[in-house]
Amino acid sequence: VLTPSLAGVLAQGYHSPQLDVEVRLNTNESPIAPPSEFLQAVGERLASSALNRYPDRQAVELRRRLGALHGVGFESVFVGNGSNEVLQALFLTYGGPSRRVWLAPPTYGMYAQIAATTRTEHQLGLRGASGQIEADSIAVDVPIVVICDPNNPTGMVEPAQLRSLPGDRLEQLFIVDRAYHDFDARQIPEWSGPNVVVVRTFSKALSLAGLRLGYCVGDPEIIEALYKVTLPYHLSALTQLVALTGLDWYRELTDVVAMVIHEREAMTTRLIELGLKPYPSATNFILVGMGSHDAHAVWGRLLEHSVLVRDASSWPGVDNALRITIGTPTENARAIAALHNVLEGEV
Ligand SMILES: Cc1ncc(COP(=O)(O)O)c(C=O)c1O
Repeated sequence: VLTPSLAGVLAQGYHSPQLDVEVRLNTNESPIAPPSEFLQAVGERLASSALNRYPDRQAVELRRRLGALHGVGFESVFVGNGSNEVLQALFLTYGGPSRRVWLAPPTYGMYAQIAATTRTEHQLGLRGASGQIEADSIAVDVPIVVICDPNNPTGMVEPAQLRSLPGDRLEQLFIVDRAYHDFDARQIPEWSGPNVVVVRTFSKALSLAGLRLGYCVGDPEIIEALYKVTLPYHLSALTQLVALTGLDWYRELTDVVAMVIHEREAMTTRLIELGLKPYPSATNFILVGMGSHDAHAVWGRLLEHSVLVRDASSWPGVDNALRITIGTPTENARAIAALHNVLEGEV
């Protein structure tokens, strides 16, 4: 018999269909694959690796290189198989039965899912009229606060003033998910403090979603605790060597960001011209309010045009919307043409 508290989780699951389509704009990946020279460099590193041995359990070289990016030592960095695993490690270490985590929907669905699988209770907060989190709304009596900045699925940034809050709330742990950080052009100091853990990923701006590499930066005491909880050798030698090569190629891999930002702005204009209501995005996707059109029906019709976007219409706190990942200029043009066609066909 299934553990009763998991029944809801299993009914829910993670639903992003992996369908065979020509235009795939549903999971906020980068539309550009890393260059073949990068793959060649991976091959060279692989050729000199000893796969008969377990990987470096502490992934010290990778953590040192990531730490250098953030101006901290390796003992301030934890690495995992995607930021989802990093989040799970944080919940396993700081959440659990009788612990509560604060979330403000609409936000990334995996927070509630990971809370459930780690038996952590979640408390839902309300957002202000602007759709942003207001400092006063964050409960003071929960040990963990999760903030996604910029937020998925809205694509919106959280107010810069929020970044001073952890300094006044030292008894709470702030997990700040910065998966979309690179698409956020604001020049303001990064979230920081002894009670702040910043979570990052190679899946978006670095075009390496297939690698599954995420990490977090935080106080060395927190990082040490995460390593005590995580299974030994959890990060394979292959993942470590590809991630190290990714850091060698950081500039080339993140070249895609400028194109995505340019296309995001152009897409926003085109969506408005179609009479739709795109949210202001600082990410590589746009949440689009569908107005009088039925989002779920439009999602199905787009699929008939081989265009896959995300149906957000049943997500908590989201009303009748689709989420569209920014693709290449050609893919975006196809998505807009298909949308135009579908919306016209409705009348
Ligand atoms: C806000 C947010 N956090 C984390 C993730 C998970 O990313 P990863 O591929 O690093 O597990 C995603 C993926 O879409 C995301 O949107």
